[in-house]
Amino acid sequence: MVDIPVLDRETGFIDAPVDPMLNLFEEIERMKQEKNAVLLAHYYQEPDIQDIADYIGDSLGLARKAAETDADIIVFAGVHFMAETAKILNPGRKVLLPDLNAGCSLADSCPAPELAAFKKRHPGHLVVSYINCTAGVKALSDIICTSSNAAHIVSSIPEDQPIIFAPDRNLGRHLVRETERDMVLWEGACIVHETFSERKLLRLKVRYPEALVLAHPECEEPVLRHADHIGSTTSIRRFARENAHDAFIVATEEGILHQMRKDSPEKTFIPAPPESGCECSRCPHMRLNTIEKVYLCMRFEDPEMHMEETVRLAALRPIERMLEMSEGVGT
Ligand code: 13P
Ligand code: SF4
Repeated sequence: MVDIPVLDRETGFIDAPVDPMLNLFEEIERMKQEKNAVLLAHYYQEPDIQDIADYIGDSLGLARKAAETDADIIVFAGVHFMAETAKILNPGRKVLLPDLNAGCSLADSCPAPELAAFKKRHPGHLVVSYINCTAGVKALSDIICTSSNAAHIVSSIPEDQPIIFAPDRNLGRHLVRETERDMVLWEGACIVHETFSERKLLRLKVRYPEALVLAHPECEEPVLRHADHIGSTTSIRRFARENAHDAFIVATEEGILHQMRKDSPEKTFIPAPPESGCECSRCPHMRLNTIEKVYLCMRFEDPEMHMEETVRLAALRPIERMLEMSEGVGT
């Protein structure tokens, strides 16, 4: 009898040997056909995963793809809240996450019971939550947003309606500046985007005076204030592709540089440096996924996302509201 490896919930992935001589690209492609599986990947995944994905996108693009797929299996190469969102939208399909421990510091910063208590302290407020949060937090929210549609969604809310914005304080502050709406902010942050250093960014600008600065709104204000363009990963990618400049300093997780360099091989892309000499501009959660883990999760169809139906239904409502409100809004 052949031993089938089982998922160890502590390690978070199927821990089985993978022959280093196996062509994982061919194997994954074969399983996609055989199992009617689709592989969705975020820009912060390692280049190999991006290269084998059926769709690479930002959080809004990925949620839209997950909502419209007819695949039997969705393999989500991203972090836990993204796979959870795909499951919320697809209760009847199998949703796989290569490593269950691929979390998110923003989602961790906002436990659902604490948000419930915060809501009680701010009666009458509408809760707009960034998609980087757990299903439990989504279930307590009125509308979900992503970095692509947040300004549009906040601006669509009647001006006399008080708003709580959770969990990212940096995106929240950026939205307050952009929309001129006064919102009560949850004090969460992304460990990756908060590491970028204004001091080092300025030094880079002196060294590359022609380069434009592209930044994700999860960065802190001292970095955002030097940005020529602020937007989601997809909009950062598009801006660099369509803009006539030939050098860009990029303040977001450096996985995105893979597509930017493929789009415009003749241009120069310089990752914005973190304050210390570490590799902190790689998301330690996103990077838990590897091409081997993608292969193993497809082969053994585990780790699979599961969710209580009451939570799923409560979390579905604000996601659907986001998809309706941002119909026609580009990523
Ligand atoms: P977007 O790709 O939606 O801009 O989000 C970035 C991010 O931090 C995802 O975790
Ligand atoms: Fe979360 Fe930041 Fe990693 Fe995105 S980059 S998954 S926001 S920790």
